[in-house]
Amino acid sequence: MSYGSSERIASALREWIAAAPPGARLPSTRSIAAQFGAGPVTVQKALGTLVGQGLTESRPGVGTFVRAIRTARPHDYGWQTAALGSPPNRIPGRASALRTTPNDVIALHSGYPDKELLPERLVRAAFARVARSDAVVSRPPAPGMPELQSWFASELGASMRVDLAPPSASDVVVLPGSQSGLSTLFRTLVGPGRPLLIESPSYWGAILAAAQVGVGLVPIPAGPNGPDPGDLDRAFSQTGARAFYAQPNFANPTGARWTAELGDRVRRIVEEHGAFLIEDDWAHDFGIDVDAAPLAAHDDSGHIVYLRSLTKSLSPAVRVAGLIARGPARDRILADVRAQTMYVSGALQAVALDVVTQPAWRTHLRSLRRQLAARRDLLVDALRDHAPAAHLESIPDGGLNLWLRLPDGTDPHRLARECEAQGVVIATGDDWFPAEPTGPYLRLNYSGPNPGAFPEAARVIGRALEPGVPRA
Ligand SMILES: Cc1ncc(COP(=O)(O)O)c(C=O)c1O
Repeated sequence: MSYGSSERIASALREWIAAAPPGARLPSTRSIAAQFGAGPVTVQKALGTLVGQGLTESRPGVGTFVRAIRTARPHDYGWQTAALGSPPNRIPGRASALRTTPNDVIALHSGYPDKELLPERLVRAAFARVARSDAVVSRPPAPGMPELQSWFASELGASMRVDLAPPSASDVVVLPGSQSGLSTLFRTLVGPGRPLLIESPSYWGAILAAAQVGVGLVPIPAGPNGPDPGDLDRAFSQTGARAFYAQPNFANPTGARWTAELGDRVRRIVEEHGAFLIEDDWAHDFGIDVDAAPLAAHDDSGHIVYLRSLTKSLSPAVRVAGLIARGPARDRILADVRAQTMYVSGALQAVALDVVTQPAWRTHLRSLRRQLAARRDLLVDALRDHAPAAHLESIPDGGLNLWLRLPDGTDPHRLARECEAQGVVIATGDDWFPAEPTGPYLRLNYSGPNPGAFPEAARVIGRALEPGVPRA
């Protein structure tokens, strides 16, 4: 090698490195300096260049080493497929309702209400109070904090017929959100390979939980008035099912609310078949024109297992739900909950209890009702004006969603892509069907951010539906 600048030294060392194995130690600064007749500063500069180029790494006090080049190669996890085998049943993909979207779009797809509809002040104050309490350093009993169990029991008991025994606090199991309750119920009351009757369409999360557990879904068609009792009775007889999952109040996605008469008939059918009704009262706090009337308030025989979530009405950060079941079913459910989650954070339970026992909670619910009414009516009017081809089968008197039937032949996925390109995110109805969709549908949530943009969203949907826009 000849004398030269730091660049000439670096270039000579690059050649040396190319022939050296990874991890080889470079000659010392002093010997490089001697070899090139250069000063130590020039050598250091050359070594710095090589480090900067990722060819060497210097370990202070030890020396400079040829870096092991890590080539980015695609990983092959094929062995896992061989180890796991094929899944016992196909698990549905990610639901459109769970997508996170940028702030600058009009989001009508989500399942959770916007922040401005939450009791934010109450929730923040509750967190501050709970932070100063023992709840942050203690473990609650597995079935739940006794005071919160009592609250869930008394909420249902308050609407109970006087001739029936209200649930007691010990009938309540507190859960980390009702989604986990669905999995627990499908595992304990139905079991893998056994049939579960389900309204169609129905909540995508219930369809997902059923697939995970491996229960076989038997769809019962449910329109704007709920299911047909005759269909339900036949399905119980034909399949030998022992459970029916349903949402009698403000169903997700249709918004349907069963009449008292339908509720009575369904209850009788369930009893006659010695079965359970899994009542998901997900929208208990979202009544608009009427209050939710739980079917479980008409049952003390243990046939109805009742789920009530606070996640959507308090805050997505307060994942707390109550499950009410009586008899041996309750014991099996609790055994499953112990195995799955053991207990729900006492701090979150204390926050939930703090919020729902404040007088301001009732005031919040009254204001929420007015806001939901205004948002629902705004979106309904906007769709009538700007998207008349989208047919609203009924105007829900509670809940968070409109369920729209699209003209025959519409490809809802293409429509969703076209709308998204115009800044409007919508959920296609397919996710809510336990079998093939019976038609093209959209679910639009009116509790998301920026209701002022509903007319613009309806215009975008209307334009995408105009004749001339190609269909499937
Ligand atoms: C019908 C229904 N049940 C249950 C859930 C899950 O609720 P949680 O947030 O309490 O898990 C949802 C959430 O969208 C729902 O729509």
